[in-house]
Amino acid sequence: MIGARGRDSAHDAVLNYTESTRTDERLALYDIWGSQAHVLMLTRQGILSDRHARDILAALEQARRDAQTGRLTLEPRLEDVHMNVERYVVESAGKEAGGRLHTARSRNDQVITDARLYVREELLNLGERLVALCRAFLDLADAHRETVLPGYTHTQHAQPITLGFWATAHASLLLDDARRLSAAYETANRSPLGACALAGTDFPTDRHLTARLLGFASVEEHALAVVSGRDFIAEALFALAMLMTNLSRVAAELIYWTTFEFGLMTLHDDYALGSSIMPQKKNPDIAELARGRAGKVHARLLEVLTLLKGLPLGYHRDLQEDKAPLWEALDITAGSLNVLTGVLRTVRVHPDRMLDLAWSNFCTATELANYLVVERHLSFREAHGLVGGLVAWLAERGLTFRATDACADFLATRECPIPVEVLKDILDPVAAIGRNRSLGGTSPREVERMAAALRRALDDFAATLRERKQAIEAARVQTSALVAKVLEGASVAALI
Ligand code: ARG
Repeated sequence: MIGARGRDSAHDAVLNYTESTRTDERLALYDIWGSQAHVLMLTRQGILSDRHARDILAALEQARRDAQTGRLTLEPRLEDVHMNVERYVVESAGKEAGGRLHTARSRNDQVITDARLYVREELLNLGERLVALCRAFLDLADAHRETVLPGYTHTQHAQPITLGFWATAHASLLLDDARRLSAAYETANRSPLGACALAGTDFPTDRHLTARLLGFASVEEHALAVVSGRDFIAEALFALAMLMTNLSRVAAELIYWTTFEFGLMTLHDDYALGSSIMPQKKNPDIAELARGRAGKVHARLLEVLTLLKGLPLGYHRDLQEDKAPLWEALDITAGSLNVLTGVLRTVRVHPDRMLDLAWSNFCTATELANYLVVERHLSFREAHGLVGGLVAWLAERGLTFRATDACADFLATRECPIPVEVLKDILDPVAAIGRNRSLGGTSPREVERMAAALRRALDDFAATLRERKQAIEAARVQTSALVAKVLEGASVAALI
């Protein structure tokens, strides 16, 4: 650890309280990559000699191999990942070379370099899981473009929709989440390295070179702004919090719709759990946990916003607390996407039950009112009153719109005779959804069109994810290749 004013010791309690090695474990490989880029840059700029660079890079390569095979343990007494990697280099390369690694950088720019490198990849991985869930919704939509069920408002029957319409609604909302993940990626994908402690440096560094070696799209220039800012974390957390909110709504529907009372769907046994006492139970625990954990992710966003609020510019140790909430939110969101995709891919839907419900509770009342407006020239308000009266009259007698003759009689006595055959068609939920062709409406034609558009948007998003992953990989390979050449004896100036 770094003691105050050059001391190399501190009280155990101080160390225990301040060290962050557990949280930092995920950053080890990124810390090493960042250090490699930094050393290559220092050497190209003549700040470090080729000989020293070679010794440091050899030690970093060894550290990388150890980290990849799980043999790089971060010692809590060394405080954090940065001091652990630096100590590893000093021990392996010697003080004379290793002691030069930290020239022209600070842990303040280092920690956010590591975090940005880690987060941007996690956002891409999460994006891929989101694509998988959206595809599950769109496949369901294609299979059920014409499967009619009651659409709900206030959890009461409203108007008939199709299951495909429902599935495309979720896909549509999730594509907005994709857009937010993508924006958060862009914010994270800017290099802070070279900002140093807060003021930049009087060494002739080249921040664009390190950015390139780390595959960052650009340099986030202002040194004080960049070491102070954790916007990339808050933005990623908002994207995750919103995504979890949307997933919790998917979860709520799965929970209700798979109840005996709704009976619209049945969970696959592999995606349900039982009770320790009640042998018959088949519970939607996955969906419930996704719904419950959404709240945790919201809390993690609030935690970071609260952490940042009121902090003067510059680095403060408070900022160390920015990572654990993000890690937790990333883990919860990735896990939730994963299992909900499985639930959705295996759920059995019950079209007969859906249609039965759609017939049972007057959900084509609006369509009847619309007919009276168009064909009988009633004002909408008048038609609304008349149909409301019809529904009340039927309900009192325990009847539904299935009783078309009774409906026709009622309307005839109110000076609105409609032939029974016509009435049947108006009140039929299947016929009704076919007519509902307004832009974005529930007709199978619109659902087909929207599903195709959503698939195209999803393909574009998936292609962007692939390109971004390839760009990151290319930068990693480039840095490794340069390191390998330096280790073989090449001079950095001849390489870059
Ligand atoms: N562990 C620290 C963090 O996560 C690293 C930066 C420490 N910088 C410092 N000046 N103490 O924020």
